[in-house]
Amino acid sequence: MRRLLLGLLPLLLGALPARYLVQDASSRAFGHPLPGLSPEALEAFRLGDQAFNRVFVREDGLGPRFVHQSCAGCHVGDGRGRPLFAQRSEALVRTRAQDGKTPHPLFGLQLQDHALPGYAPEGRVELRWEAVEGRYPDGTPYRLRRPRLRVLDPEGRPVPGAYSLRIAPPVFGTGLLEKVLEAAILALEDPQDQDGDGISGRAARLEGGLGRFGWKASVESLLVQTALAYREDMGLSTPLFPEGGAEVGEEELKRVVFYLENLAVPAFRHLPEDLRGKRLFREVGCASCHVERLAGLPAYTDLLLHDLGEGLADGVAEGAASPSEWRTPPLWGIGLTRKVLGEEVYLHDGRARSLEEAILWHGGEAEEAKRRFMALPKEDREALLRFLQGL
Ligand code: HEC
Ligand code: HEC
Repeated sequence: MRRLLLGLLPLLLGALPARYLVQDASSRAFGHPLPGLSPEALEAFRLGDQAFNRVFVREDGLGPRFVHQSCAGCHVGDGRGRPLFAQRSEALVRTRAQDGKTPHPLFGLQLQDHALPGYAPEGRVELRWEAVEGRYPDGTPYRLRRPRLRVLDPEGRPVPGAYSLRIAPPVFGTGLLEKVLEAAILALEDPQDQDGDGISGRAARLEGGLGRFGWKASVESLLVQTALAYREDMGLSTPLFPEGGAEVGEEELKRVVFYLENLAVPAFRHLPEDLRGKRLFREVGCASCHVERLAGLPAYTDLLLHDLGEGLADGVAEGAASPSEWRTPPLWGIGLTRKVLGEEVYLHDGRARSLEEAILWHGGEAEEAKRRFMALPKEDREALLRFLQGL
């Protein structure tokens, strides 16, 4: 093992850009190019930014059914989107038949809840929130919310099926995560939990390689992720999924991918006293999944699938993941969510309105870590949360 890793080291380092952090804690923090790009690369980045923001209309081939008209409409400020289904939807619903596996007989794999004038959308999303209350061991009460989702047909009748609400995750830093060698991810796997820490973690093995993107790691590359977004979210064909043409050509597709590949990551903003919070993050076991360094990157993810328990399970199997399995999301930049989006929404369906709520939903393999967090004195819980705010 050790020899293997040493042999890989130059490759691991060589594949990644030397600098990828930028100093900006403003609402634009997620949209910067990697430092040190050449003038040509900067120009390509600018064109990719335009393509990411391009608002498609009927004349460009939009639809006829779609969810939103631009990438940036859901990935707000290159960050996440809200669990919002309105005039345009910032989130989407993955759909399966009632078995949770096969595509939904009416909607396929994803609901298109908007349509051009003259067409009917596939259906409409009705989202209600249900309150869930609890207490810390020290008596402090808390209040969470859980989504209750129904999909209605154009006549307003509920359609049976398995539905999973997904908010758009941040897109900055994804280019760096794509470059992490498979060996570095596989080295963190422990499917049989041989070290006995209650955390197993397994890589999302897909036909095209390891799954890295999406809340269930169901997509292996930014190219596929982008072409799927054009197809499923905007009803646009690409050379990858032609369907008789390419409404978005190869050049534009590549521009957007180049843009994603070259987005930088905001630098951390910790004060010396936040070191205590970092130590607690390790001690309670958060870093077992949100690993501090993956191939040298401080992304706070292992890119593995973990079973997070029934509380977060969505009834939908996707890629290599079961209904209760989710990819550990990266935590870099997470403390700037409110700055960029104007509010906070975390977890795959945006149910958590604060970092604290996000932790309290952890279960399954993360149950012990959550329990240890909950058992901390209030000042320690706050120190841990301040550490997260500085990421
Ligand atoms: C309707 C809203 C919506 C639109 C429009 C949209 N996305 Fe997404 N995007 C999402 C959601 C939701 C996910 C997570 C899906 C999942 O869990 O599988 C996602 C995932 C991603 C990811 C993976 C990020 C990660 O960390 O796993 C990338 C990259 C991405 N989208 C890029 C794009 C690009 C490029 C476009 C435009 C071509 C686009 N998206 C359009 C909602 C959207
Ligand atoms: C067993 C692995 C595991 C452990 C241990 C774990 N997490 Fe997570 N974490 C995950 C997964 C998987 C998700 C995504 C769950 C979802 O979206 O439903 C997640 C989501 C999160 C999120 C929301 C991220 C986002 O982008 O919305 C935060 C914040 C977070 N974890 C912090 C922590 C903290 C703090 C701890 C320690 C108290 C911790 N986690 C322990 C696996 C883990």
